[in-house]
Amino acid sequence: MRKNKLKAAIIGKDARTNAIERCLEKSNRIQTPIGKLSDWKNEKAGAAKENVLRKAQELKPDFVIVGPEEPLAEGIVDEIQEKLGIPCIGPTRELAQLEASKAFTRSLLSKHRIQGNPEYRVFHNLEGVEEYAKELGGYVIKPDGLTGGKGVKISDVHLFSVQNGVDYCKELLSHGHPAVVIEEKLDGEEFSLQSFCDGTNVVDMVLVQDHKRAYEGDIGPNTGGMGSYSCENHSLPFLLPRHVQEASAINRAVAQALLAETGQKYKGILYGGFMVTRAGVRLLEYNARFGDPETLNVLSLLKTDFVDICEAIIQGSLGEQSVEFERKATVCKYIVPDGYPDNPVKGERIDLSGVPKQSDQLKIYHAAVEEKSGELYLSGSRAVAFVGIGKNLSHAQSVAEEAASAVKGPVFHRRDIGTTELIQHRIAHMQSLLAEEDFRELLRNHY
Ligand code: AMP
Ligand code: GLY
Repeated sequence: MRKNKLKAAIIGKDARTNAIERCLEKSNRIQTPIGKLSDWKNEKAGAAKENVLRKAQELKPDFVIVGPEEPLAEGIVDEIQEKLGIPCIGPTRELAQLEASKAFTRSLLSKHRIQGNPEYRVFHNLEGVEEYAKELGGYVIKPDGLTGGKGVKISDVHLFSVQNGVDYCKELLSHGHPAVVIEEKLDGEEFSLQSFCDGTNVVDMVLVQDHKRAYEGDIGPNTGGMGSYSCENHSLPFLLPRHVQEASAINRAVAQALLAETGQKYKGILYGGFMVTRAGVRLLEYNARFGDPETLNVLSLLKTDFVDICEAIIQGSLGEQSVEFERKATVCKYIVPDGYPDNPVKGERIDLSGVPKQSDQLKIYHAAVEEKSGELYLSGSRAVAFVGIGKNLSHAQSVAEEAASAVKGPVFHRRDIGTTELIQHRIAHMQSLLAEEDFRELLRNHY
């Protein structure tokens, strides 16, 4: 029987977890406040786990949602489920390898003949690294293990010779990474497709494009994500319907492959980071949880009761659950400390008094900020996210931009995210990759 007034608890402390919490709170099927099991920060994994288990035992939630990747990779879901019998939205440690080990994921796709891998090889030592990098020409080096999206280095962007590449592999292998993946450097546009998954059924969310580079014009170091947008038609301006289908088919096939490979059901969010290239859609990486910032876009649009979706994931009935999103556009912009990501200022005060109040068209999420006596202080990472929601991108962009640019303090943000100029740039990039006929279809579909 459908239970009313469920108790939920969350793990994590960031804008994404805050968005999850607010989405739960909108449901009249949930008891508030939502339980907080752990920030999962500044604690050793062992101590953090013990604290989570103790708190969960006290709170006795009906289910737990895990926000960030570290607790998943540490096996928090296994412990909560096995020791306390509480179901979780988030995969077990074995399944979370999908994010925690790029070698695992590349091999999974190869073994199960799932389309989407670039040319790649996994190395456990330096033997053959130099030859493979030379053979590929353009190459990308990825450490096996979690790196907060910052460990990937690309030839001609971060590595300027084959020797640079070999040295980077050496550094990674001698600093605790069990392996490195070297793969073909792809050219194309990136996008994120997040799907709810109950182990068997896979239901896609709205497509989002994140912006990983720190500075305007997609230059500078990689970050956790400076901002993101989604469109009112739930696709993206540089994608053809067949590209969306290809990405969706990969998520579905991966859910099946995980079940076949491990005998376990993946219950949570399958987040595919894809690139549309000349040759079709390629998988860059998987994340085993909601994206940050992508969650801020998609959950702002979710019309279906989120608690119904969580329940369907747990019960394995996602196939019978309708999942609807509003037909609106969203633009998310993060303000980050000056110097982010390499050398961010910390402890400085920021002033949000000039920012418009939250409304149906503006959502504000706190991330790496400390609140002391009503004032906000930077703690060194992405600080505050502003999400504009509107009938089209231009509207959503102006709402987010007005809010982000009103913050005073030693911070910056990417003014170009969601602007017509940057979108046109993405479309022009696709023109250089797609056949003429496909490009004409792209223009017909969107504008
Ligand atoms: P990942 O953590 O695997 O998503 O990689 C981080 C970033 O590196 C991605 O968002 C891309 O911008 C870039 N990247 C990853 N893999 C490739 C690839 N094979 N070719 C070109 N760029 C890549
Ligand atoms: N948007 C990048 C991430 O969530 O890892």
